[in-house]
Amino acid sequence: MKETEKKVAIVTGSSSGIGFQTALILARNGYSTYASMRNIEKSKIIMEIAKKEGLPLQVIQIDVNDSFTVKKAIDKIVNVSKRIDILVNNAGYGLFGALEELSIEEIKAQFETNFFGVVRVTQAVLPTMRNQVGGGTIVNISSVGGQMSVPILSAYNSTKFALEGLSESLSYELGSFGIRVIIIEPGFIKTNIMNSSVLAKKASGKKSPYYSSTQRIESHFRSMMDSPESSTPEEVAKVILHAVTSGNPQLRFTVGNDAAAIIQAKRKMSEPDFINLIKQQLKLESQ
Ligand SMILES: NC(=O)c1ccc[n+]([C@@H]2O[C@H](COP(=O)([O-])OP(=O)(O)OC[C@H]3O[C@@H](n4cnc5c(N)ncnc54)[C@H](OP(=O)(O)O)[C@@H]3O)[C@@H](O)[C@H]2O)c1
Repeated sequence: MKETEKKVAIVTGSSSGIGFQTALILARNGYSTYASMRNIEKSKIIMEIAKKEGLPLQVIQIDVNDSFTVKKAIDKIVNVSKRIDILVNNAGYGLFGALEELSIEEIKAQFETNFFGVVRVTQAVLPTMRNQVGGGTIVNISSVGGQMSVPILSAYNSTKFALEGLSESLSYELGSFGIRVIIIEPGFIKTNIMNSSVLAKKASGKKSPYYSSTQRIESHFRSMMDSPESSTPEEVAKVILHAVTSGNPQLRFTVGNDAAAIIQAKRKMSEPDFINLIKQQLKLESQ
């Protein structure tokens, strides 16, 4: 029997990308895995793979914006599986647009999913994790954009900065209960995220004073994502598996060469030099 056989994992946003691959890798390594997604109709492929490979994987509905679906799913999991060892807070999307052109509703919606979604699921899971023998692990999918910001993504960056702060606090709060918190900071990963991201309503017209910079930065991100250098969601999933199975994992894991390079540059360079580097990369005016 594998050591992990009776351990239970939940992944949010498992319909595609990083969540999809993470649910599969956890199930392939013996975790009884709940691949949660807001739209169960998107479960066909993961269910086919699970069936073909005989994986201990089930699909369950969670819309991280909806407290009712969160509570219903977590109650069901605890009822059936009795414990929750790993929670991977992965669900998220990007909001493109200069701050001036973002509506308060668009920014709130971005926070609702990327930040409050994490709060909602984590709060629902904690009473079980805290009271079980062996503690547990909470993995929060942040981003390199949780350590450094770029123009046109201020709302997205803010959600990830907030998530980093939340995760850091949480790691202190939960340490004495045997619950570990891990922050994953991917760089550019080839997923559906550019298509699932939202362009702010006011930013989409040619009348926008930010139109050309928005277009340029968006296409820069698309080309970075399509480049052979960018990493795959499978690589992120492998890092998550490594992190959750490590005896004493560090708090933060970056994924991808681009991520490691930019985070190192931010640590080592002076602030003005770092800002100029980002400006050069994004072809922005220099100071
Ligand atoms: N790809 C990158 O380059 C990159 C880099 C750094 C960080 N990340 C982070 O990685 C995470 C996963 O993104 P991805 O790249 O794998 O993109 P993706 O393929 O677009 O996957 C996003 C997942 O989140 C789900 N989701 C969105 N809103 C949700 C909600 N309210 N409730 C439940 N699920 C919801 C989506 O479900 P639907 O299919 O129903 O839309 C989808 O399953 C995100 O937190 C993202 O910020 C990605």
